[in-house]
Amino acid sequence: MLILGIETSCDETSAAIVADGRRVLSNVISSQCELHAPFGGVVPEIASRQHLLNLRPVVRQAFSDAGVTFGDVDAVAVTRGPGLIGALLAGVSFAKAFAFARGLPVIGVDHIEGHIRACYLDGPEPPHPALALVVSGGHTNLFLLADEGRYRLLGKTRDDAAGEAYDKLAKRLGLGYPGGPVLDRLASRGDPRRHLLSLPHFSDGARYDFSFSGLKTQVLRRIENLGIEPLAPGEAPEEREDIRDLAAGFQSAVVRALSRAVLRALEEVEVQALLLSGGVAANSALRARFREIGAERGLPVFLPTIALSTDNAAMIAAAGHLAFLRGEIAGPDLTADTSLRLGETGARRSLRHR
Ligand code: KG4
Ligand code: ZN
Repeated sequence: MLILGIETSCDETSAAIVADGRRVLSNVISSQCELHAPFGGVVPEIASRQHLLNLRPVVRQAFSDAGVTFGDVDAVAVTRGPGLIGALLAGVSFAKAFAFARGLPVIGVDHIEGHIRACYLDGPEPPHPALALVVSGGHTNLFLLADEGRYRLLGKTRDDAAGEAYDKLAKRLGLGYPGGPVLDRLASRGDPRRHLLSLPHFSDGARYDFSFSGLKTQVLRRIENLGIEPLAPGEAPEEREDIRDLAAGFQSAVVRALSRAVLRALEEVEVQALLLSGGVAANSALRARFREIGAERGLPVFLPTIALSTDNAAMIAAAGHLAFLRGEIAGPDLTADTSLRLGETGARRSLRHR
């Protein structure tokens, strides 16, 4: 079964053709990073307008890269949320029009389920139960998957997402947008011991939740106290030891915060695999730490490639395939829904009180 996937929830316009929810035939990603960089973050209005311009050429490219024609696809899957409302509507409207014109079923996909499904692409199938950490610019969620497609939210961020904290720190240091890749690169050349940052503890005893705003405040305070200047125009960030060390201290704390929740969950529940996805899953230190935890526990670790970690339509087509098998075919009233909350149907309980 061939699915055309479409993703426009934030600042990437992407279209992909995926076979049977598992094999990527094409995955075209047009990033708007450069348009948003001067603003230090995504400007929603610019994003939606740019999606409208990009969608047709990106979809055409996805077909030509895959070597298939419009008549070959069996369904269209599109991100319907969460994300920026205008950006989502651009993709949903396009997908509905395309599906209507070709007489194809259309499937609305949860972006977070898409990130998780990236772990199932182009490789062996993860065994279940599994623990899945989704870390992106908008989300930091830890799920328990009792089985394929069954998500239970164990913990999430109470404030900033991990990627958002990277982006905010980079903006403050004049490193541009997005902040993750550049801070990751600088961190690998810095000394993490120069800035030992503390992790939050939750007075209500939550063991799997995250919080990154306190970490961000600690780093910003150090920038003030030590008089660390943002990067000057034309200056190479690699030359700045103070920024490299700060990035290393910050990255070390983010990785500790993320892995702490995973390790705690592993104390409570027996799983067969660890899954890591979302834009921050591109992070070199986090990938290394996940591999280490997997090796220590004898668990296979499923890490999408970098291109499948950050926003892309192949993961949406993959999630669309699963949704199709569940019978989730949308009607003509399909619309964007920014309030989707994967795995949050029941109250979040401690694993100890199952
Ligand atoms: O999943 P994604 O592409 O979009 C959202 O759904 O939010 O994630 C984008 C986020 C951005 O915050 C970006 O800074 C972060 O992923 N990111 C990284 C790295 N590459 C991208 N964060 C840390 N290290 C990286 N190497
Ligand atoms: Zn995403």
